[in-house]
Amino acid sequence: MVFGRKMTRSQVENRWFLVFLIIFQAIFILILYRGSTSVVPQDHLDIPRPLDYSKTEDVYTNLSLYIRGTDNTSMQDCTSQTLINVGPLTITFDMLPSEKNIIDKNPYVQLGGCYRPQHCVARYGTAVIVPYRNREKQLRHFLYYLHPFLQRQQLHYCIYLIHQAGSGPFNRAKLLNIGVREALKDEDWDCLLLHNVNLIPENDYNFYICDGKYPKLMASAIDKFLYSVPYRSFFGGVTAFSPEHYLKINGFPNTYWARNGEDDDIAERIQIAGMKIQRTPFSLGRYKSADGKQVSGPRKDIKPAEVHTRKTWKDDGMNSLDFKLLAKEKHTLYMNITVDVGAPPVQSSQDKREGNKT
Ligand SMILES: *[C@@H]1O[C@H](CO)[C@@H](O)[C@H](O)[C@H]1NC(C)=O
Ligand SMILES: *[C@@H]1O[C@H](CO)[C@@H](O)[C@H](O)[C@H]1NC(C)=O
Ligand SMILES: *[C@@H]1O[C@H](CO)[C@@H](O)[C@H](O)[C@H]1NC(C)=O
Repeated sequence: MVFGRKMTRSQVENRWFLVFLIIFQAIFILILYRGSTSVVPQDHLDIPRPLDYSKTEDVYTNLSLYIRGTDNTSMQDCTSQTLINVGPLTITFDMLPSEKNIIDKNPYVQLGGCYRPQHCVARYGTAVIVPYRNREKQLRHFLYYLHPFLQRQQLHYCIYLIHQAGSGPFNRAKLLNIGVREALKDEDWDCLLLHNVNLIPENDYNFYICDGKYPKLMASAIDKFLYSVPYRSFFGGVTAFSPEHYLKINGFPNTYWARNGEDDDIAERIQIAGMKIQRTPFSLGRYKSADGKQVSGPRKDIKPAEVHTRKTWKDDGMNSLDFKLLAKEKHTLYMNITVDVGAPPVQSSQDKREGNKT
């Protein structure tokens, strides 16, 4: 017997200390557990299989299991018990799927690119917002992979394409602001998933839902940066905001035209608002890039742009958003919102001098 009669006084004290420690830990774990269930459901974090990217599955595998009819009187909430997730997905860009092929493979997607699970009541509503212009091939790959990906996750979702008309400088951040405004007119979304069209998620356990506490970088490991990000403070590509968090930072700046730097402005807005950036673990936040650009490691030469967020964020964002809505068309696989974002202001003489230097 370990705890025999011959125990010394200090051993007895140790024992009580141990008991105290165990109780304390149990309470701590309980608090942690309860805290986390109110944020991200625990069942969504259980990943039953090892993450082996040498064994991938087709994103359409077993999707038809979700399509069988259910009697509508006893519809249950979607839970992990009904998940058919497979983990690592086979993503290739060798074959360009036709639009008809994508539509045929996604019979339950409604006009406007929306979906609701047929077999259970979705627990989350996510608006996927995609800034867009002239990337037809990338768009087809995106739709081919994203629709089944989101259905596997039992989400209620819509895909919004925010299409910048004209040939002026592209304004990604402003298009995202417009997307958020238009999407929230349609529904009270739980989560805004801001998504570049060239990035395809590689693991269906990378859930497209928001973290209750902070904005989240979903694309934490991109293939063309050797499954990393271009620089440490990077906050672009694919990110997730709750509407509340998005409005708390006054959305994104409208004033970054065709140059990078808006990501850093956004990262700083998040900090100024007293929030932190969450990142999907590298093993789940993996993305393949469909833009065919050469693979390179994290680049030391790309530095976060100098931003003046502290001075500008209160006046430049959702509260100063100004654009012309040209068309809102329901395509079978997405909502196509065409906008005129205006033009950049005439350069000041200082900008011109800086421009001449490069
Ligand atoms: C697909 O569904 C079948 C039948 O339920 C199951 O046996 C199989 O393991 C599933 N495949 C995957 C990859 O989950
Ligand atoms: C759903 O309910 C309606 C009316 O209660 C019923 O007519 C219909 O057959 C049900 N559908 C299914 C799939 O059970
Ligand atoms: C979106 O709508 C605009 C305006 O009707 C159209 O010119 C454009 O081709 C559409 N884009 C896509 C990708 O459907």
